[in-house]
Amino acid sequence: MNLPLRAAIAGTGSYLPEGRLTNDDLSQIVDTSDQWLVERTGIHERRVVGTEESTSTMATQAALRACEDADLDPGELDLIVVATITPDFQFPATACLVQDAIGARRAGAFDIEAACSGFVYGMSIASAMIVSGTMRNVLVLGAETLTRLVNYTDRSSCILFGDGAGAAVFRACEDGRGVMYTDLGADGSQADAMQVAAGGSRRPTTMQTVAARQHLATVDGRRVFRFATEKFAELIQNALSACDLSSDDVKMVVPHQVNQRIIDSALKRLEWPADKCFVNIAKVGNTSAASIPIALDEARRSGCITQGDTVIFVGFGAGLTWGATVVKM
Ligand code: UT7
Repeated sequence: MNLPLRAAIAGTGSYLPEGRLTNDDLSQIVDTSDQWLVERTGIHERRVVGTEESTSTMATQAALRACEDADLDPGELDLIVVATITPDFQFPATACLVQDAIGARRAGAFDIEAACSGFVYGMSIASAMIVSGTMRNVLVLGAETLTRLVNYTDRSSCILFGDGAGAAVFRACEDGRGVMYTDLGADGSQADAMQVAAGGSRRPTTMQTVAARQHLATVDGRRVFRFATEKFAELIQNALSACDLSSDDVKMVVPHQVNQRIIDSALKRLEWPADKCFVNIAKVGNTSAASIPIALDEARRSGCITQGDTVIFVGFGAGLTWGATVVKM
């Protein structure tokens, strides 16, 4: 008897640029210190793109690695979804640039903009496309070049972000593996919590907007901190109850790498031990939509997550947006 058709993770890949921005480097740019940054964020260093790199070039490397891991010729992909808030261009979509670069001749391609929740949103799209029977192989990427969007005169936000890309190939599967549950949400009334105020249709770029640095990101850190701490625990509790799982059934949570203190405080609320949560923020920083797939790839390749494990993915970020998925690996 066949089990239900699901979207299983057939392969993962990631790419981190070689450039590094350490806490000591940042303390030369803004008034901060290694001690403050480690205590308040858990971040020691972030990765930074080289001059010839961009979101699509990193995404391309991650995509090729995921396809190789899945033993899939990119020509067999049906769809490419790139989650990003730092696309190469306002248009066309970064997904189209990746589609061309990897030779995914048959694939449709589009971007989604759900900030740090973007990869979880992308997983939900892959799952829906596969479970409906419309598609068999879907590539989902999270890729960001946030170091080109942060304001390096604002010490409360520029210290958080780094660059990178992560990818997962989702494949139709009927052996029990795959996405078991998805939950997406948003609260647009808090759109101003994190935003780039200019450069869109509401406030096009002018000399004045650039002089006022409105083409760069602003972050209300405290507001996001409160939101993320509450949402993290709530998403996990909802996922457990919807899937009729106990914490013992879950091998690991792979969360958006937002801030070590937010992760610690959510785990405390849940009364979960730290080793049930995969965290790599110390060496990667906050890479928004890329953070979950980069962490997923590292967790798989290091053996922290193996086939048959039940894993919960949680993301939350600008929008505000949030989302969770439960996946049998
Ligand atoms: O992924 C989604 C996007 N991520 C986020 O939005 C991040 C969520 N928020 C956070 O991670 C934290 O709120 C921050 C790391 C941004 C800030 O940490 P915090 O513990 O919430 O600090 P705070 O904003 O409450 O500020 C405490 C103090 C302030 O000084 P006063 O007013 O108490 O004298 C800040 O001016 O820390 C000061 N401060 C800094 N000091 C040294 C803020 N940034 C820095 C800094 N270095 N980089």
